[in-house]
Amino acid sequence: MDYTYDDYRKSADYILQRAGFVPEIAIVLGSCLGPFAQRIEQPVVIPYSEIPNFLISTAPSHAGKLVLGTVGGKRVVCMAGRFHHYEGYTYEQLAIPVRVFKCLGVKAVILTNAAGAINLDYKPGDVMVIRDHIKLFGDSPLTGRNIEEFGERFPSMTETYTQDLRTIALKCAESSSLKVHEGVYFFFPGPQFETASEIRAARILGGDAAGMSTVPEAITAAHCGMPLLALSVMVNMAAGIGKTPITQEQIDSIGEMIAGGFSDYVESIIREITV
Ligand code: HPA
Repeated sequence: MDYTYDDYRKSADYILQRAGFVPEIAIVLGSCLGPFAQRIEQPVVIPYSEIPNFLISTAPSHAGKLVLGTVGGKRVVCMAGRFHHYEGYTYEQLAIPVRVFKCLGVKAVILTNAAGAINLDYKPGDVMVIRDHIKLFGDSPLTGRNIEEFGERFPSMTETYTQDLRTIALKCAESSSLKVHEGVYFFFPGPQFETASEIRAARILGGDAAGMSTVPEAITAAHCGMPLLALSVMVNMAAGIGKTPITQEQIDSIGEMIAGGFSDYVESIIREITV
């Protein structure tokens, strides 16, 4: 892939023309978290396949459309369905959505995902505000020629997850029905779940939750200087913690159980963000 700045601009210009407004906040909905999109008022829906230079989502429980509208009193653009490396996309391709958000004029990004709990104090159904991540595997979304319009060649990753947004998320947690932690997301490329030994190793290294997404997008956001909040929903205890293997049914049932409470929580955060 050898996109130039103009390729991203072209996607953004198409979206702006269809939507007729500039969104303030971008939200990426992870597996099981799609129902949030139904909250968006006066929605303009754009299938990914209609956006020039965009990608098409193939993962189960990912809808594959952009929904623009209003939620929590803010103009938002929402990705109902995200892209993962395990679908066959390169890490560079995973930079596309966040770069398009940047070109749209978005002021803050909220990434959400479903994850496995590594921290033994966490329970399925809990939420984790990501304080930091660990990614020891695979390429970077910034591999290849640097696009100076977005950021520098060697960007810092020390403030990837914006303190002010984390503070808002933890404050909103006080009036949420959900138990909310703050912790470290350990990236695994998937699509296979981890071994029990990998999870033990991740715990020793400082991981609180394991997941297969979010980090490529977070690196891209840090590169182009976008304020970022990332939230993980614990949909299972990570491998080796429970007595039985992780199943998709179990994940889906937790996802369904918390979808309403999680949507309320995200909406309350959006309401509090000042951009
Ligand atoms: N590991 C990695 N990704 C996940 C998990 C997990 O246990 N659960 C949901 N996504």
